[in-house]
Amino acid sequence: MSPLPRQIDTPSVMFKNLPTGTKLFILCATFLISIAVPIYGLVTEKRLAVDFSRKELLGSRYLHTVREIYSAILSPREATRARSDLAQPALVGGLARAEEQLGAQLQTADLAGALAGALKEISSQDNQAASQGGLVLSALSKAQALASRIGDDSNLALDPDLDTYYLQNIVVRGLPTFLARLAELQDFFATSLSTGGSSAVRDVRLSALVGLARSSAMEVKENLGAAYRGNGDGRLQAAVDAKFAALTSSVHAYLAVLMASAAGIDTRDAVAYDRFHSRTVEHAIEAWTAAQGELDRLLHVRIDGMLAKMLVGLLLIGTFAGLSIILALLTHRHIVQPLKRLENVASKVRSTKDYSLRADHSSKDEIGRVTAAFNDMLAELSAARARETAERVAFAQATRLTTMGEMAASIAHEVNQPLAAIVANANAGLRWLSHAAPDLSKVQAVLQRVVRDGHRASEVVGSVRALIKRDVQQKAPLDINVLIKDVVALLQTDIESEQLSLELELSTPAGSVLADRVQLQQVILNLLTNAIEAMRGFNARPRALAIRTSHGDSDSVCVAVEDSGPGIDAKDRDRIFDPFFTTKPRGMGLGLSICRSIIEAHGGRLRATPGHPGGTVLEFTLPAYHASRS
Ligand SMILES: Nc1ncnc2c1ncn2[C@@H]1O[C@H](COP(=O)(O)OP(=O)(O)OP(=O)(O)O)[C@@H](O)[C@H]1O
Ligand SMILES: [Mg+2]
Repeated sequence: MSPLPRQIDTPSVMFKNLPTGTKLFILCATFLISIAVPIYGLVTEKRLAVDFSRKELLGSRYLHTVREIYSAILSPREATRARSDLAQPALVGGLARAEEQLGAQLQTADLAGALAGALKEISSQDNQAASQGGLVLSALSKAQALASRIGDDSNLALDPDLDTYYLQNIVVRGLPTFLARLAELQDFFATSLSTGGSSAVRDVRLSALVGLARSSAMEVKENLGAAYRGNGDGRLQAAVDAKFAALTSSVHAYLAVLMASAAGIDTRDAVAYDRFHSRTVEHAIEAWTAAQGELDRLLHVRIDGMLAKMLVGLLLIGTFAGLSIILALLTHRHIVQPLKRLENVASKVRSTKDYSLRADHSSKDEIGRVTAAFNDMLAELSAARARETAERVAFAQATRLTTMGEMAASIAHEVNQPLAAIVANANAGLRWLSHAAPDLSKVQAVLQRVVRDGHRASEVVGSVRALIKRDVQQKAPLDINVLIKDVVALLQTDIESEQLSLELELSTPAGSVLADRVQLQQVILNLLTNAIEAMRGFNARPRALAIRTSHGDSDSVCVAVEDSGPGIDAKDRDRIFDPFFTTKPRGMGLGLSICRSIIEAHGGRLRATPGHPGGTVLEFTLPAYHASRS
């Protein structure tokens, strides 16, 4: 036969069979993982945005250095001093430092190197040569390219907010372009003054350059307007508007003066033009400084805002996660632990049967109610057990009383016969003594019988007590035929006085049993007494008493006592072994009851059957004793 397929547990069944604590742990672990994943996503996303803006800040820092270079190259008031410093570490070194710190991430090394080269070249020329040789314009164009690269590579050109986007447009492209245009104008004037030339060509070129400068200024202005519109709190405008207004007015004044000079340029005007120019440059640098300061501020505000939002998000998630963990701990404390304690108490009760134990938990939820119900059940069981114990004690006491009553009755019954014999013998002795010549030998014989019967009475009391206590320590191998002969000797007087014929049919070899001698003696004595009493006054048949022993089989010995009396009424046949059942006026009804107890205590059986042709047979069997087997 093929073995039965093993039943495979489904996940649901497996989960159902897990301890409650493990179920709770799985629930918490799943919850924490489901929180950890979005946290990871949130942090990653915010970090990307923060890094993006930090890179913009990096670019802005680099632009500060570029702005200083513009200022140094273009500021005429400080021209003499500044240009002599161009080759000094203050400017080139600043550029090198900026490149070293920031350039690696912005890939500006080539452009920064070109600008540094141009600056060194300027510093090696005198002022005049520098201007005339177009070195300044070349340096500015390199600075412009560098600023543009910084804007592109530092994400500034990709800025996502309107205000910062337009602001960076101003500092990355607008103002550098505008300043380059101003420098071209200045260069144009310097060239015109030194070379002269056709006024028509000069005017065309002048108006073209002025147009370019104006359009650059317009572009800056438009970007500024857009930045204002994109700045919600208006702080940007408040911070930079004055600077840009000053720039606008100086640009207008400068360009108007330039256009007015179309009739011709006098060398004497150069000083005035220079003043307009230098003021415009100065205002442009100041506006740049202010704009860049605001750009930095706005980027810092954005980064701080993002970090704060991330922190708040993490705090919120952390708070909920913490709350959930606290809830899980509370659940463990108020559900898992009470359940465990309940289980422990239940298993302890099961193993010890100690119903006084109680589960220690009180709450108004289901577990509290189950615990209360469990404790109530234990209290019920405890009370039931106490009742049961009390009943058992009461029953035991009642049984003991009954037993004691039975014992007293048994003793009375069994002692009766020897006492009667003692009285009869004592009377006989007295009679012998009252003769004129007392026959002392007969008196002695009578007294010996009194002593014998006295001992027998004492033995009977001890034996009955042992019987009641089920004390079977007194058993000894007995020859059943010898025992019968002893009892017959005791009743010899009665047999003779009743004129009964006695027939002994004793088996050969004699049956041997393991028994209490006195008890077995009592059984045979009781059966013979009943038989003698049954035939008393009954004359319908010859009065005969027969005692037979036989071997039922190899394992039992059988003893039968038969009389020729009236027999037992059919209606009484089932009751004669009941205690206190008697048909005799002075009988106690205990003889057969005691006999049956004794025989059964020895592993045998006692029964009554009708005799032939009449009378009664009382017959018992006992296990045969074989000395060789024991
Ligand atoms: N051999 C017998 N023939 C006829 N009836 C008997 C015989 N033996 C016993 N009985 C009936 O059984 C009854 C119970 O016998 P049992 O020996 O238990 O009590 P008892 O003889 O009446 O009183 P006692 O307690 O003095 O022995 C007797 O009263 C009698 O009716
Ligand atoms: Mg009797």
